[in-house]
Amino acid sequence: MSDDPNYVHAHGHAHGHESHGHHKFDPANVARLESAERLAWLRPAELLAHVGVRAGMLLADVGCGSGFFTRPAAAIVGPQGHVFGMDPSAEMLQACRERGVPYNVELLQSGESVLPLADASVQFVFLGFVLHEAASRSAFSAELRRILKPGGRLASVDWVPQHEEHGPPTAHRILEADAVAVFARAGFVDVRCERWTESHYVVTGGV
Ligand SMILES: C[S@@+](CC[C@H](N)C(=O)[O-])C[C@H]1O[C@@H](n2cnc3c(N)ncnc32)[C@H](O)[C@@H]1O
Repeated sequence: MSDDPNYVHAHGHAHGHESHGHHKFDPANVARLESAERLAWLRPAELLAHVGVRAGMLLADVGCGSGFFTRPAAAIVGPQGHVFGMDPSAEMLQACRERGVPYNVELLQSGESVLPLADASVQFVFLGFVLHEAASRSAFSAELRRILKPGGRLASVDWVPQHEEHGPPTAHRILEADAVAVFARAGFVDVRCERWTESHYVVTGGV
């Protein structure tokens, strides 16, 4: 549970003005995140390179889960770079550990909208299917901005709100325009959105 006043219970009962139908990923379904189909569909290494992840960067993979994006990010940033994989779920972090943690990755447990990093500590913040789970989008996006160095970049990939067999229910998904607005309101600049697949979009922005 969260002490965030905007916390929304798993059954969808909202408190506070910022009510979203968010729900948390069930760690029991972690195998779904690591399926060959998902890898082929999302092409994580290609996506990370496309949004500007480069060798030598310090990167935060916020809501890293089992490490689906953490491992390819670690391969791209290489020996001169570093990846902080963060997640509030101890079970997800354990699932990530079980899959092997690359030498340049540090796993850290985070709070709901509290990241255990100093101000201006990374050049890139990556979110893989996390924004729709955040209890308070405003507090969460402000926290992401806080940990970015000047000139840093953010990318957030998430589900297009449409009904389909895979992924979270339509009501829990975020419209592209709303995702853009969340980051723009938090002070990110140059915020734009593009489709990555027919079911996924990626929002990028800078500080
Ligand atoms: C659908 S999973 C995606 C995991 C991974 N990024 C991927 O794409 O495979 C969403 C993850 O976000 C995490 N999460 C939920 N709320 C969060 C928050 N406020 N801050 C950071 N991570 C959060 C969950 O624990 C879960 O591991």
